[in-house]
Amino acid sequence: MLLTEIDHIAIAVNDLEAAIAWYAEVFGAEVEHRETVESDGVEEALLRVADSYVQLLTPTRENSPVASYLAKRGEGLHHVGYRVANCAEALEAVKAAGGRVIDEAPRPGSRGTTVAFVHPKASFGTLIELVQDNGPTSH
Ligand code: CO
Repeated sequence: MLLTEIDHIAIAVNDLEAAIAWYAEVFGAEVEHRETVESDGVEEALLRVADSYVQLLTPTRENSPVASYLAKRGEGLHHVGYRVANCAEALEAVKAAGGRVIDEAPRPGSRGTTVAFVHPKASFGTLIELVQDNGPTSH
């Protein structure tokens, strides 16, 4: 089994502060990590749930993939991050099964992780992110 944990559930939102405030008020959730990933054009806030996260995502520019997602489909579930021991190995498994990938090779993700995205057409309509945890900095 290549998937070791649900790393995060990513939810695209228009207003990051409003979403953080809602999770705080309703569930008492606290932000454990915040990061802007310029290459992806997103700002994210991670709320820990046991050993996984709810990742609230908002675009930082108009031409980012998350901005087009919000424009087309509105707020909601954007992708699921599966934790794997080895991102390259898991990505190869997808390719070997004939699956379509978005990232041909693993690349740096937020929190010091190594990630690769699998195309939703290859995975029953769900955008999947394979997340390799590279140690204490990526938790
Ligand atoms: Co993600």
